[in-house]
Amino acid sequence: MTKTAVSRRSLVGLAELDAGTIRGLLASATAMHRTLAKGTTKPPLAGRIVANLFFEDSTRTRTSFSVAAKRLGAEVVDLMGFASSVNKGETLVDTALNVEAMGVDAIVVRAKQSGAAAMIAAATKCPVINGGDGKHEHPTQGLLDTYTLAEAHGRLDGFDLRGLRVLIVGDIASSRVARSAISGMSKLGAQVVCVGPPGLAPAGLTSLGCKVSHDLDEHLDRSDAVMMLRMQFERHDGEAGGPGGGGERKSGVIASVREYRAGYALTEERAGLLKAGCVVMHPGPMNRGIEIDGAVADGPRSVILRQVTNGVAVRMAVLSACINPG
Ligand code: CP
Repeated sequence: MTKTAVSRRSLVGLAELDAGTIRGLLASATAMHRTLAKGTTKPPLAGRIVANLFFEDSTRTRTSFSVAAKRLGAEVVDLMGFASSVNKGETLVDTALNVEAMGVDAIVVRAKQSGAAAMIAAATKCPVINGGDGKHEHPTQGLLDTYTLAEAHGRLDGFDLRGLRVLIVGDIASSRVARSAISGMSKLGAQVVCVGPPGLAPAGLTSLGCKVSHDLDEHLDRSDAVMMLRMQFERHDGEAGGPGGGGERKSGVIASVREYRAGYALTEERAGLLKAGCVVMHPGPMNRGIEIDGAVADGPRSVILRQVTNGVAVRMAVLSACINPG
């Protein structure tokens, strides 16, 4: 959480948070789960307004922030990039300043540009929460991933993740989710190993505090969680086929999807080699049949939908901390 010069709190990334702050937010998420189970009696953000400014597609993050804000009693306004005056040449910062001028209490922003959330946070006075900016960070995703890991391994009391080994597999270079998860999990003591071909898991990632490997199979029987990542074809240099594109998706980073799957997909066969207690995670959106087999995503080790459920409690904790600090 950043205490800025304009004296309000924003959440731009987990890299800038210390372990104590992360633990505090996760403990608050546990309290939010209890509140949700009981039914809220006195919504703490009644009368407040949260603005979702989404300049890039989203299913989970935008909906989850909306549900979280409403559970806390706040109202939500949604501005979708495709329907905004950004398409007439207005900048993201001017857009945010205009929305702030309407009297909102917090802005959640998603943008294609790395650094967009920090730029908006520096220009506005209200709290700004990063809902994913380019390849930089997706801090609430990192928090919910860390929470889900702790929950799966009985570490909700204190969020001490020492002794846990987590594989993050796939397109790490493009992934803001990976950067936030590495920060969140490793600051609480987990050992994170990023696995992928050299073009997707470059050696330089070690500067984030994780290990790097190019061999998935050697880690399967000694890890406590495997988080699979989507191949972000749209952030590669190759021709983007994509759903409805009428052909195999192309990437300027991997030779072919078939070759990628052979080395790095979590297939049913590979899932059978995971150690007892190892859970399967995915931040979504999933490309079934590319980075993960459908039977694994839906299988007994999967906590993928639990990540989504935990996302609401985590975002309730973050909205509360940003709008009603202390
Ligand atoms: N995990 C995640 O950010 O999903 P969305 O892109 O659907 O928000």
